[in-house]
Amino acid sequence: MTNPVTDELTLLQGDCVELLRQVPDASVDLLLTDPPYNLSPYSTGNMRFKWRADINNDLAEWDQHFDPGDIQDEFLRVLKPTGNLFAFCSYNLLGRWHEIFDPLFDTFQFFVWHKTNPVPKIRKQGFLNSCELIVCMWNKQHTWNFGRQNEMHNFFESSICMSPERLKEPKHPTQKPVGLLKHLIGIASNPGDVVLDPFMGVGSTGVAAHALGRRFIGMELNEEYFDAAGQRIRKAQSEATTATA
Ligand SMILES: C[S@@+](CC[C@H](N)C(=O)[O-])C[C@H]1O[C@@H](n2cnc3c(N)ncnc32)[C@H](O)[C@@H]1O
Repeated sequence: MTNPVTDELTLLQGDCVELLRQVPDASVDLLLTDPPYNLSPYSTGNMRFKWRADINNDLAEWDQHFDPGDIQDEFLRVLKPTGNLFAFCSYNLLGRWHEIFDPLFDTFQFFVWHKTNPVPKIRKQGFLNSCELIVCMWNKQHTWNFGRQNEMHNFFESSICMSPERLKEPKHPTQKPVGLLKHLIGIASNPGDVVLDPFMGVGSTGVAAHALGRRFIGMELNEEYFDAAGQRIRKAQSEATTATA
């Protein structure tokens, strides 16, 4: 029998709206997740070129019908009263996240991830989508491991997830860089804390959590992504154990 609070690693495959019921009340220190963006209605499909590989601008089949209201009750139930909630958020859902969650937390803020190599716009019309938002919510007595003021900017700059970190098989269209996730986990949780990602994709949050000595609970609907996540996180877990031995 697994215990998602005391075990180092709990991975559950299926719909997180159902699976979250297995997580005890007030047991999660940091809920860091990257849910669907509901961007499919805006997509114009992949961009094709004769002289180079396609640029991925495709719809992901999972990227639809997500509303932050679907997970609001379970997120609040599992989070400790002093826990932090950080969620990647597309521009079109920002208002909805704020409408639902701002009244439920002492503070609601956003964090910006600036991508140094965003998808180009060949016709130079409109801005590049070089920034991604992460909505951040917390109550009093939450964890912040800040040192100097210049570590406290709500901004992080890095490339998008690149080879060799980027998985070739299965290829996940929105795999996040582990460096960004380590930055967020490092400032908002402590070693031994429970980090939860109910939309974990290929497990990047879990890799970052284990590299920093946190416990991790991960959930994913897609079986192929789920299997890849398990392999990646167990490898990170054994590397972290070897490094501290
Ligand atoms: C934006 S991606 C997360 C990518 C992840 N951050 C990574 O680095 O791999 C969202 C993921 O949520 C999964 N998903 C969508 N609906 C779900 C649900 N109801 N329960 C669990 N996972 C779900 C999708 O299959 C997709 O892999």
